[in-house]
Amino acid sequence: MALEVRSLRPGSVRRQQRRDMNRSRAAEKTLRNLTGHREERDLNESLTEHPMQLENEIAIVTGAAQGIGREISLSLAREGALVVIADITQQGLMQTAEMISKNYGSKPKIIPTDITQEDQVANLIQHTLVIDNRIDILVNNAGVSGPIKNIEDISFEEWEATMAVNLCGMFLCCKHVVPVMKKQKKGNIINLSSMTGKRPMVQRTPYATTKMGVIGLTRTLAQEVGKWKIRVNALCPGAVESPRLTKVLEAIRQQSGKSWDQVVGEMTEESALKCLVDPKYVCAMVVFLCSPNGTMITGEDINISAGLVMY
Ligand SMILES: NC(=O)c1ccc[n+]([C@@H]2O[C@H](COP(=O)([O-])OP(=O)(O)OC[C@H]3O[C@@H](n4cnc5c(N)ncnc54)[C@H](O)[C@@H]3O)[C@@H](O)[C@H]2O)c1
Repeated sequence: MALEVRSLRPGSVRRQQRRDMNRSRAAEKTLRNLTGHREERDLNESLTEHPMQLENEIAIVTGAAQGIGREISLSLAREGALVVIADITQQGLMQTAEMISKNYGSKPKIIPTDITQEDQVANLIQHTLVIDNRIDILVNNAGVSGPIKNIEDISFEEWEATMAVNLCGMFLCCKHVVPVMKKQKKGNIINLSSMTGKRPMVQRTPYATTKMGVIGLTRTLAQEVGKWKIRVNALCPGAVESPRLTKVLEAIRQQSGKSWDQVVGEMTEESALKCLVDPKYVCAMVVFLCSPNGTMITGEDINISAGLVMY
């Protein structure tokens, strides 16, 4: 497929375009009621007039075809970053690209990539370097849920498939981006772990193992590359309103025979704030960590869980 690279425009023009777009979109609310517990809200509701925090940064987001990865890609673009979006699902990537263009006026670079394949990860890095010979941000977001079963019912193939994406794929992306970031003496890597990276979740042994592994990878790599001013952090979201959560809740509902409201209620009941996590707060943390405000933060595993996990 043809790879598109936007031409970078002067910040002032883009800021003006953004202001115009915000005004015209004020009445154009986007219904994102994914769980049935969500009010209608504007995609840009958190967008206030402020200087773009990541202007001209080059950022790769894996798993950007839907869900949290799509939202992170939109947020990075909103902050002025040139986003390179990667996923195995090409159609979803096109949709994400369209949303970025429509909302923020920039064209992301689309690089279809299976992160479990080392040659494809190397290709992702090489094609990103074509833009301006640098990579400022890598968001390792791609992930799979893995089987929801008792351990004795999980096949070795299911176990391996979960490891392949959630851990091995993340390893490959880190391995190939670090030499670039070392040369620059600058870089931000953000790894999506989960609340399940900290506390057990019954019938999710492969997923929990990978997400706990992500924290080990994050801390160790942060220590290893800190002297090159590369920062590595993990995010541990709770139950984020997303297509994936809808699928997981539906599976729980079918297995338990409970109603949808009961299943959602039980999940939120455990959190201090009694709610699911709006993905915009995961995005806000990504932007914060990549901005100068995050300069002294590395090796952390940061909960964004509405108080579901507090350690
Ligand atoms: N949704 C939640 O409640 C939640 C909570 C905590 C953590 N997380 C983590 O956040 C990340 C995103 O979650 P989500 O809910 O948006 O998931 P999602 O399933 O909606 O999106 C994941 C994306 O990763 C892509 N992907 C899968 N395998 C890939 C591969 N081999 N190569 C490239 N891309 C691949 C998928 O095509 C998909 O677009 C995951 O790592 C997940 O574990 C999600």
